[in-house]
Amino acid sequence: MKSLAGLTKELWDQIYNFQAKPDDLILATYPKSGTHWMQEILDMIQNDGDVEKCKRDHSLHRHPFLELKFPHKEKPDWVIALEMSSPRLIKTHLPSQMIPPSIWKENCKIVYVARNPKDCLVSYYHFHRMASYLPDPQNLEEFYEKFVLGKVFYGSWFDHVKGWWAAKDTHRILYLFYEDIKKNPKHEIHKVLKFLEKTLSEDLINKIVHHTSFDVMKDNPMANQTGIPSHIFNHSISNFMRKGMPGDWKNYFTVAQNEEFDKDYQNKMAGSTLTFRTEI
Ligand code: A3P
Repeated sequence: MKSLAGLTKELWDQIYNFQAKPDDLILATYPKSGTHWMQEILDMIQNDGDVEKCKRDHSLHRHPFLELKFPHKEKPDWVIALEMSSPRLIKTHLPSQMIPPSIWKENCKIVYVARNPKDCLVSYYHFHRMASYLPDPQNLEEFYEKFVLGKVFYGSWFDHVKGWWAAKDTHRILYLFYEDIKKNPKHEIHKVLKFLEKTLSEDLINKIVHHTSFDVMKDNPMANQTGIPSHIFNHSISNFMRKGMPGDWKNYFTVAQNEEFDKDYQNKMAGSTLTFRTEI
């Protein structure tokens, strides 16, 4: 099967010249940072907490991934986005410097979710095992090396989180953290509502917290990706809704890997005001 990276490269011009609209809402993340979790939260907000409306389709089909052409879809997602009615919610994993200029020009609101790199690495490793369009990660040791060097699809986690952190000073970006949402989802949903200039009742907000909790999403076929053909996502290898818990990296990193990672992190994040929690 042709790799996703190959498809994206060929069609990059079309992606970069994507025409955004001022009322587009962009959800940007580094892979495995809680994209589909925030997508579900935003969909619930945009649909005033109507669970049935949010079950209208699989999350991979409900909102397009700006730069992706999935092997099981007839059209690339950016073409699907062009055909959608407004207001559109568009996901992307692109680093800030690769975002289509029209998104900046139209001053679109952007929600960015960042997740600590250790859990991102472990989650990305398992995703490579179950997603047929990504290269076989071999084993965690090999994937660890590639992740640290940024030699994975979407490049360096470090550059991604820092690039978007800098971009928020000059653009309409709400920068959120996976661990904060996990610790206090209601608090973070309030931040999203404020950013979107939307008011919902406490009852509806509680409903959103419930509907988007890990266990409820894991049981929801429209959110847990089990409806995606098994030759694309092989859930018998690893679930898409896998652990959903900060700190799982401790079950995978050796003491030596952890020490090496921390040293590398200090170097690469030196001078940044960004801080991450690797457990809650
Ligand atoms: P794990 O593999 O650590 O379990 P993305 O959507 O960016 O691909 O991120 C996927 C990660 O987010 C997976 O992490 C998945 O389990 C986790 N996730 C998805 N929904 C979640 C939720 N409601 N609460 C907590 N984590 C969630």
